[in-house]
Amino acid sequence: MAKRFLLLSSAAFLLAALSPTLSRAGTAGTAGPPPAAAPAAAATAAAPATAAQPAPAVPAPVTPDPYSAGSVQAGATRAAVCFACHGPNGNSIAPTFPRLAGQNAVYIAEQLHLFRSGVRQNPVMDPMAQTLSDQDIDNLAVFFAAQTPTGLEADPTLWKAGKALYLSGDPERRVPACVACHGPLGRGNPAAGFPALRAQQSVYVVTQLQNYANGTRYSGPKAVNATPNSKMMFAIAKRLTPAEIQAVASYVQGLR
Ligand code: HEC
Ligand code: HEC
Repeated sequence: MAKRFLLLSSAAFLLAALSPTLSRAGTAGTAGPPPAAAPAAAATAAAPATAAQPAPAVPAPVTPDPYSAGSVQAGATRAAVCFACHGPNGNSIAPTFPRLAGQNAVYIAEQLHLFRSGVRQNPVMDPMAQTLSDQDIDNLAVFFAAQTPTGLEADPTLWKAGKALYLSGDPERRVPACVACHGPLGRGNPAAGFPALRAQQSVYVVTQLQNYANGTRYSGPKAVNATPNSKMMFAIAKRLTPAEIQAVASYVQGLR
């Protein structure tokens, strides 16, 4: 009972922090198929109290679902070409290339579809994604999700400020705590398709937060609503200062 109340009040906080942004995102969410709300909430309720993770504010229709169709083994064969930039098993070495090891399969598949259709524009990834079939995408998504991320270190001068923001946000400026959706260990929310941030290259994280803030993460007429939950990140990133972006990026790079 008490836990349920806690979950509800955290969700209410998130709603308050993000409104009016969320009201429309919520409407979009209800238009989809019966979403992952129940499993996500159940998973959250089952978590130990110390690692309590508030329910995601917006239930995400999970499209597509690579878990049922993907094969880790087939993905391993196809992934060799990806290692050139994303590193061995998705543990990139170069800081501008995102880590894929341990990333959520739903999120990976979603992003590959967006690169393939040119909604997420990148001169390197767009042509790469165009060589992939739907089946390749599902296989690659479950393959990378099954890999273990190797740890990176946080910048000692930055991570404390980053941790404070990550865990508490700044309610006065309606910045929600990142932990609510990305999780206490930065593992995201696989059921809802929220990306993992642990051991992610901080340089890459800074770039993406800037891209959300200036509205360029996705292109086209529906850029802000490119995914069921993208609107939240556009709204949140706009409220962060450059110093906060640097600090929180350093903190998540050190999470494992
Ligand atoms: C030549 C370098 C290169 C190769 C090869 C490459 N990628 Fe990428 N990939 C990138 C870059 C750069 C980005 C970041 C793009 C951006 O900033 O938007 C990226 C981003 C991604 C993302 C988004 C990650 C996130 O956290 O949002 C996924 C998923 C991805 N690549 C999958 C793949 C897969 C699967 C392959 C192999 C079929 C592959 N990439 C091959 C350079 C590469
Ligand atoms: C209400 C839930 C929610 C909160 C709170 C939230 N995020 Fe996110 N975040 C998401 C979702 C959903 C996405 C994927 C959006 C998309 O589809 O583009 C995302 C994407 C991201 C990405 C891009 C990941 C990648 O691999 O490209 C970064 C970086 C990020 N968030 C950082 C943060 C930080 C830092 C905070 C706290 C200041 C935060 N998020 C708070 C839900 C949230």
